[in-house]
Amino acid sequence: MPATVELAKNSTGLVKERIKVLLVEDNEGYTYFVKDVLLRRNPDSFTLESVSRLDAGLDVLSHRDVDIVLLDLGLPDSAGYETFARAHRKSPSTPIIILTVLDDNELVMKSMRCGAQDYLVKDALDPSLLVRAIRYALERARAKRALRELSGRLLQSQDEERRRVARDLHETTAQTLAALSMNLSLLEDACSVEHKERTLELLARCRELANKCSSEVRTTSYLLHPPLLDELGLLGAVRDYADGFAKRSGIRVDLELSKDLCRLSKEIETSLFRVMQESLVNIHRHSGSKTASISLGMADGWVTLVVADSGSGLPPGTVVNGSGIISMGVGIPGMRERIIQLGGMFEIKTSEAGTEVTASLPVAI
Ligand SMILES: Nc1ncnc2c1ncn2[C@@H]1O[C@H](COP(=O)(O)OP(=O)(O)O)[C@@H](O)[C@H]1O
Ligand SMILES: [Mg+2]
Repeated sequence: MPATVELAKNSTGLVKERIKVLLVEDNEGYTYFVKDVLLRRNPDSFTLESVSRLDAGLDVLSHRDVDIVLLDLGLPDSAGYETFARAHRKSPSTPIIILTVLDDNELVMKSMRCGAQDYLVKDALDPSLLVRAIRYALERARAKRALRELSGRLLQSQDEERRRVARDLHETTAQTLAALSMNLSLLEDACSVEHKERTLELLARCRELANKCSSEVRTTSYLLHPPLLDELGLLGAVRDYADGFAKRSGIRVDLELSKDLCRLSKEIETSLFRVMQESLVNIHRHSGSKTASISLGMADGWVTLVVADSGSGLPPGTVVNGSGIISMGVGIPGMRERIIQLGGMFEIKTSEAGTEVTASLPVAI
């Protein structure tokens, strides 16, 4: 991703990010207005490059870093929707705000449907509106990019997951079934009174293989979707999963589960279960912690899950702040997305003393 900010020192000496704006506008009055607002009134926040023809604008887009374009649709060398389309084609990831006059409505709507971030009606422009529109457009473009990246990663991880399940089934259950079928053929051949001992031995082996097979299928299907979640609800499923996890991983898991937690909607139970599962897997894979704790409780119409460890903490730079998380994985953004989509809150606190994942969801009572 290209760098989207330019650093500049403001009067207090603090390093601040400046937004690089490209203005493509042939009307000198509007150009003057934008320059005045961005450069004279907000010199620490913006840099501005201004051109009056589309060709010159496209040239800037090809050769220089631009964070956002303010684009007049009627220029000496291009008019109407084509103006937007050409600028958008030149740099699809750069947000464009259209500058328009009142009677352009249909044109503006078409451009918005095709990817413009926003539009500003020139006659109603005022300084704070212009600054706000630029900031909002950048934020929307950032959110859109993050969402696209996440869906890309989700699709990729879905493919990987399918490959993993297919490989697991092939390496375990399919092999066991093949051995079972071979033994059954041998059994057929050996099925006579003289070979009673051999027959019994083969039968015992077949039973062993059949048991192994069903346990493998149960493990795979449990990991795909724990059946206890539907039957027992979140509390029972968390208890059961934590128990199995502790046995397999050797990590001690302390539980603090509020007993009076009632059954919740399927979406809420599944989401919280997945957050708990992903957090435990992360603790096992990344934290180096010997202990983990899970607490689940309800207060003021919110159900809250906290999963904590006393491990190494996330690598520096992984967490930017409460909402913006940079992660190359799918786990953390996926957890966050699940919780946000249900109107909840998701937070990760991390330090060298360990990591704490908190997910809260509102419960309609
Ligand atoms: N409990 C934890 N302790 C230490 N580091 C962690 C923990 N959870 C996550 N991380 C770090 O955050 C990164 C991103 O996690 P995640 O999004 O779940 O992706 P993945 O587990 O696939 O790498 C991990 O690669 C790891 O470096
Ligand atoms: Mg993970």
